[in-house]
Amino acid sequence: MPKQKTQTTSAVDENKLNQFIGQMLADLGGASSIALVRMGDAFDLYKTLHAKGPMTCAELAKIAKVNERYLREWLSQQAASNYLAYDAKSRRFSLPPEQAMVFAIEDSPVYMMGGFDVMAALLDNQSKVQLAFKKGGGVAWGDQAGCMFCAVARFFRPGYHNHLVGEWLPALNGVVEKLKQGAKVADVGCGHGWSTVLMAKAFPKSQFIGYDFHPSSIQQAAAHAKSHGVSKNARFEVGLAKDYPGKDFDLITCFDCLHDMGDPAGAARHIRKSLKQDGTWMIVEPMAGDSLEQNLNPVGRLYYAGSTMVCIPTSLSQEVGAGLGAQAGEAKLREVVTKGGFAKVRRAAATPFNMILEARL
Ligand SMILES: C[S@@+](CC[C@H](N)C(=O)[O-])C[C@H]1O[C@@H](n2cnc3c(N)ncnc32)[C@H](O)[C@@H]1O
Repeated sequence: MPKQKTQTTSAVDENKLNQFIGQMLADLGGASSIALVRMGDAFDLYKTLHAKGPMTCAELAKIAKVNERYLREWLSQQAASNYLAYDAKSRRFSLPPEQAMVFAIEDSPVYMMGGFDVMAALLDNQSKVQLAFKKGGGVAWGDQAGCMFCAVARFFRPGYHNHLVGEWLPALNGVVEKLKQGAKVADVGCGHGWSTVLMAKAFPKSQFIGYDFHPSSIQQAAAHAKSHGVSKNARFEVGLAKDYPGKDFDLITCFDCLHDMGDPAGAARHIRKSLKQDGTWMIVEPMAGDSLEQNLNPVGRLYYAGSTMVCIPTSLSQEVGAGLGAQAGEAKLREVVTKGGFAKVRRAAATPFNMILEARL
């Protein structure tokens, strides 16, 4: 990028300044793309380019049934973002295969459309969180931006789809054998229930109950179970992690929710009581190191943003208000889990975004 002429004081290193301005341009470019990417998703523009191959603006406008003048501006921004490729000779735009994995293929492990939905929801949450930031207290999960719940569910789904049944469950001691024979499972803090539905599909002899304290998420989860044909072995109930009703579970799972709870140690205690003596608690949490220095990286950056705008407000709105945060790290999580009465805790699996802990009595 062209060097910026600036009036500098002796303390300012002009090279560092230019480098930082370069970073800011990239950051603002990313932020400016949120609405555009989501419109591309709403009008199936990525999926159409992926299915039909390179197209001119006029060709795509006709197929997608959108206004050509708007589309030309959108396509230009997408090409400038390296989200689409542009061939000046043919004037055609295309979605390269790598970009298709991020924008068009919903089951790809790196499908990130849900991430853009989350970014929009974080912005929507600003006024409520800003107030709490000043006064203290929380913002209840159910009071957050209208699309937060679907955004979060969509963001996490590709990770579960690609890792849960094939890698994470087999990494737990003896759990897959029990699930194949017919086990009783609770998915606590299940949200829209994608994790529950995936497990219920893979293990038809087992019974799954999803619990969450957010009624509309429970409704959505039941609808997902119905549309995926697993209503027979997956059901959903409104319930708090600290006092849901079931017991004698062989497996209890918590996907990306323990740190959102007001009283995660209280939840751990209840989970221990509701497990069979030889049962397993699987805890899926965001990947993080134990110190701030270890988390000063792109993954930590995103999770700290989500944590400030969603996880901390959710936790502080509840009893105890532990506010673990999305970057609590394994040592802190172990402390919470052992406080609940679990004697054995180990890291069973990991991805760049998640760590999977196995807790046993
Ligand atoms: C980040 S979302 C994750 C949802 C889901 N497990 C997933 O991975 O898509 C956190 C979930 O925890 C639930 N939750 C937070 N505190 C809870 C509590 N104390 N009891 C039950 N559910 C709780 C919220 O309602 C929300 O659905």
